[in-house]
Amino acid sequence: MGKGKLAKFAEMETFRNVFQYPYSVLEKVPFEMKGHWREMYFHNTRPIILELGCGKGEYTVELGRLFPQVNFIGVDIKGARMWTGARKALEDGLENVAFLRTNIEMIDRFFDQDEVQEIWLTFSDPQMKNARKRLTSSYFLNRYRNFLMDGGLIHLKTDSNFLFTYTRELVRANRFDVPFATQDLYHEKGLDDATQKILGIQTYYEKMWIERGIPIKYMKFQLPHKGIIQEPDVEIPLDDYRSYRRDKRSTLDYSK
Ligand SMILES: C[S@@+](CC[C@H](N)C(=O)[O-])C[C@H]1O[C@@H](n2cnc3c(N)ncnc32)[C@H](O)[C@@H]1O
Repeated sequence: MGKGKLAKFAEMETFRNVFQYPYSVLEKVPFEMKGHWREMYFHNTRPIILELGCGKGEYTVELGRLFPQVNFIGVDIKGARMWTGARKALEDGLENVAFLRTNIEMIDRFFDQDEVQEIWLTFSDPQMKNARKRLTSSYFLNRYRNFLMDGGLIHLKTDSNFLFTYTRELVRANRFDVPFATQDLYHEKGLDDATQKILGIQTYYEKMWIERGIPIKYMKFQLPHKGIIQEPDVEIPLDDYRSYRRDKRSTLDYSK
């Protein structure tokens, strides 16, 4: 039988690869590693890549395994989910992997200017009703600019046509560079082996969407430091299957 939430929380307190700073904690204790993750935690000068809304941390852990020369940090507010990735990273001796439990709204309090090279957004909630809460909104992109290197890559992997279209329109409106985008990742031809390996990592949510036959979309775009970020001025069709899913929420594992 799986461990209960309380046991996971207790165990996570002992994990040396987890830093827990929700609002309530950060108010009292400042985060000392801001600008110093490399020297204080990773003990190297290698790049840092974040996964925001990492859930169980599949991307953080598997990218960490694929790229031992890069540091990865998974960020989420849900501790019981994070426990899975954090424990795996410890068990597998992945010294280049860490987790930060906090609210992404205040992510720029944990990283200093140019401290992060890339960001992954994996199956983020599309937040169809509230643009400001979308992890690719101008509100969040402005936050990311405070610590992401100039022109740093943002990877978006999603089931949501709404979030994908919104992001594509935002990127278009702001003329950001898009090195690659696909509306149907697993039917995309001509991907090289390395890209297939990276994009073939599947998360807990991704597997659920694949089972339901939803095509997986992916894009990566570069976020420059300069310029005021405009919101796209277009109407975007809502994901109907998500409203359906919301009705069924009680049968799905949203609480983990
Ligand atoms: C739909 S789940 C996806 C989880 C994982 N990436 C996956 O693909 O299985 C979205 C995750 O983002 C986290 N999340 C959403 N908004 C957040 C926020 N503002 N701060 C911290 N975590 C957030 C949730 O706790 C949740 O684990």
